[in-house]
Amino acid sequence: MNATPRRVEHLQTDKGSVPVYTTAVIEQPWASYSATDHAVWAQLFRRQRELLVGRAEAEFLRTQDAMGMGDAQIPKFDDLNRMLRARTGWEIIGVEGLLPELTFFEHLANKRFPVTWWIRSPEQLDYLSEPDLFHDLFGHVPLLMNPAFADYLQAYGEGGVRAHGFGIEALAQLTRLYWYTVEFGLIRTAEGLRIYGAGILSSKGESIHCLESAAPNRIGFDLERVMRTRYRIDTFQKTYFVIDSYQQLMDATRPDFAPIYARLAGQTTIAAGAVLDSDTVFTRGNGEGWASEGDV
Ligand code: PHE
Ligand code: CO
Repeated sequence: MNATPRRVEHLQTDKGSVPVYTTAVIEQPWASYSATDHAVWAQLFRRQRELLVGRAEAEFLRTQDAMGMGDAQIPKFDDLNRMLRARTGWEIIGVEGLLPELTFFEHLANKRFPVTWWIRSPEQLDYLSEPDLFHDLFGHVPLLMNPAFADYLQAYGEGGVRAHGFGIEALAQLTRLYWYTVEFGLIRTAEGLRIYGAGILSSKGESIHCLESAAPNRIGFDLERVMRTRYRIDTFQKTYFVIDSYQQLMDATRPDFAPIYARLAGQTTIAAGAVLDSDTVFTRGNGEGWASEGDV
């Protein structure tokens, strides 16, 4: 049996109907995972690991191994937490699903990474529209072991709490930053471009698309450029932003954002697929297959 998460309500947003869950932190109900749940984990784990050798940033794969994540069974949060606490002081906490923004920011600011406790059904191996245990655990948790990246996430949480005082535009800009880095970021290494964004790492199709397709743009990371760039949640990305290192991310986001929010308030947003003269372009996408309708 697949246990059912408790959704509280659906919120209408500009990105469509979004489920909102209880904010309660819950103990991972590990003993109640079914054989099907473990099999879904195993299948996704093997499939992604095979795909990600040579595509994911090497440290991501090494760390995943070091944490003892494998295909044998769904990992136990307690086991992962022992390593995380020792290495970076982070811990993962079980949640029902997407959290209200402020709750999410507060967890990150306190070095708690919320992980959805339930896993998708066998019919949803290729895609589901909200994070589940596979996305959160497989995709996000290994990088919490990296001190620079972990610091970035914590600072992001603190910045999010602050941004609440600046209004919805500031929050939208921060959300774009998260989207194009933590979820869909690429990193430049000596061996070539590699994936570090969890939204890609947990997706078979996008793991290939983001590196091999001629359709998307691949553009050097620029903080304000990213904060102005719109995105869609229901298709592959039209643009990926490339960082040189996690330290670059940390350094770029260290300054006080208040003047940045003020400056951006007077500027237009940028369509997801647009390329600007000021961009550092690694690849200019040919746009093949892009939905023309609802261009963001
Ligand atoms: N430096 C930002 C601020 O002053 C906070 C922040 C850090 C935002 C890291 C995003 C990422 O609000
Ligand atoms: Co995610």
